[in-house]
Amino acid sequence: MANRKARPDKPDRMCYLSAPRPPDRSAAMNSITITRPDDMHLHLRDGAELASVIGASARCFARGIVMPNLMPPVTTVPQALAYRERILRCAPPAARFVPLMTLYLTDTTAPLEIRRARDSGLVFGVKLYPAGATTHSDSGVTDISRTHAVMEALAVTGLPLLVHGEVTDANVDIFDREAVFIDRVLAPLLQRFPSLRVVFEHVTTHEAVEFVRTAPANVAATITPQHLLYNRNALFHGGLRPHYYCLPVLKAEAHRRALLEAACSGSPKFFLGTDSAPHERATKESACGCAGCFSAPAAIELYAQAFDQAGALNRLDDFAARHGAAFYGLPRNTETITLDRQEWTVPAQLPFAAGAIVPLAAGETCQWKMMNS
Ligand code: NCD
Ligand code: ZN
Repeated sequence: MANRKARPDKPDRMCYLSAPRPPDRSAAMNSITITRPDDMHLHLRDGAELASVIGASARCFARGIVMPNLMPPVTTVPQALAYRERILRCAPPAARFVPLMTLYLTDTTAPLEIRRARDSGLVFGVKLYPAGATTHSDSGVTDISRTHAVMEALAVTGLPLLVHGEVTDANVDIFDREAVFIDRVLAPLLQRFPSLRVVFEHVTTHEAVEFVRTAPANVAATITPQHLLYNRNALFHGGLRPHYYCLPVLKAEAHRRALLEAACSGSPKFFLGTDSAPHERATKESACGCAGCFSAPAAIELYAQAFDQAGALNRLDDFAARHGAAFYGLPRNTETITLDRQEWTVPAQLPFAAGAIVPLAAGETCQWKMMNS
C-alpha cells in the first residue's frame, strides 16, 4: 500500500491550537490590545474550590455571569447575595472582579422571586437547567409549562433567561439534543413569550447558530473556547480524553466551523462565555466522569487563537468585551488587556482545593499570551 501522506489542511485533526493561519491581514499582527473582557458564563463553585479558581478568571475578566448550580443550588435572591459576598471575599482585591449573579430556576420558583431579583440590581439572569441535563441540574425544571408564570415575570422585568439548551430524553442521540431542544422547547417558548430576553448558553451546533442568527434581537448566545477550537475527535484522540468532555458535548467539524463563523461575524448576538467548569482531577478521570472543562487559566488566549486562525483578530474585542455587555445593558469596561503572539505551554495540572485540576488544553502549546496579568 502506498504511503498515506499526512494532510494537515484536512479537518480530521482533533484541535486547531496550532493550525496554520490563512494568509490574511492579521498575519503580521504580533500583539493585540482589547477592552478588558467579560465572561458571560462562568462556574466558580464555592468554598476551597472557589478560592482555587477565582484568580484564573479575575486575572483577565472584569466581570462574570456566575452560574448558580451549587449544591444546593442558588434559588433565591438572599442566597445569590450571600454567594456574591463569598466570591468577593475570595477574589484578589487588586483585580476588582465583579460577579454578576444568577438564580437557578426550579419547578417551584415564584414570580415574586423574579421581581426581587430585578429589584436587587445584583442579579442579572435566571438559569434554566432542564432537570438531569448536566452537572448539578437535578433540581432543574422537569416540565417547561410549570414555569410559565415565571417566564411572564421575566418578560415583564426584562431579566434574561439563560438557557442550557439540551433535551434530557434518553431516546434522543446525545449529539442531537441541542437541535431537538430548539424544536421542542425553545422555539415554542419564544412563540409564547416573544419579548423574553434569552441567552442560549454555550451553543454547539449550526442549528443553534441559525436559530439565534435569525431570531429577533432579544435572543443571543454565548460560545465557549472549546467549541471554537475542538471537534468531537478531541474526545477520542489516541484514547478517551475526559478533560475535553463537557456538556453540551463537542460536536462534528461542520458545527465547529459554524460556531467560529458566528463568533467572528461581528454579529452582536454572539459573545464570550467560557463555561469554565472546574472539576477535581479524579472526578473526571473516573468510570463515570463529570462534565465540564476548566478553561479559565487560558481562556482569553484560546479565544485569541481561534480568532487568529479565522483571520478575524480584529473582531475579538467585539466578541469578548462589547456584545455581552451591550446585551446585559452594562457599561463597557474602560481598561484594556494586551495579548502578544508568544508560545507557552498550558500547565499539565494546577492545585484545586485539597487536590488537583487539569485545565483545558493542558500540555498544549498556545500561540497567544496575555501580558498584563
Ligand atoms: C457545567 C458544570 O460542571 O457545572 N458542566 C459542563 O459540562 N458545562 C454545567 C453546564 O454548564 O452544563
Ligand atoms: Zn455552564
